[in-house]
Amino acid sequence: MISFTLNGQPVETDADPNTLLLMYLREELGLTGTKYGCGAAQCGACMVHFEGSSMFSCQITLASVAGRNIKTIEGLSENGDHPLQKAWVEEQVPQCGYCQSGQIMRAAALLDTNPSPSEDQIRSWMSTNLCRCSTYNRIVKAVQRAADEMPK
Ligand code: FES
Ligand code: FES
Repeated sequence: MISFTLNGQPVETDADPNTLLLMYLREELGLTGTKYGCGAAQCGACMVHFEGSSMFSCQITLASVAGRNIKTIEGLSENGDHPLQKAWVEEQVPQCGYCQSGQIMRAAALLDTNPSPSEDQIRSWMSTNLCRCSTYNRIVKAVQRAADEMPK
């Protein structure tokens, strides 16, 4: 039996410990905000927070989350009102939308450690996350807007 905390709630499962967290979230728990892109740590669509740090859920097994805290896009805020989520709407960031939950989770981890990042720092940090619709400039603007609005 594997136990961990997911979005603040306890989870207990007897699933195969080698199951990838991404697959468990999507297929067993129905938390489909976390996306499958490449499966190879190359795109960031599957980004979650592992003990507060952004991490590719396509590279983590259930065994490795035992006893840990995991957060997905569904747990980022109560009502979709995290400053980043609001900024994403204000800046009309998404195009197809597929990569965007991963982008937001990655950006949230940045602002947790660096509440006032420079544009270069944002671009460098976000370079782990690909967007086939090339929304990169709007992502930078949205991160800057959220940083401005978040309490320091
Ligand atoms: S699906 Fe995990 S990095 Fe692409
Ligand atoms: S919005 Fe389409 S892949 Fe990023």
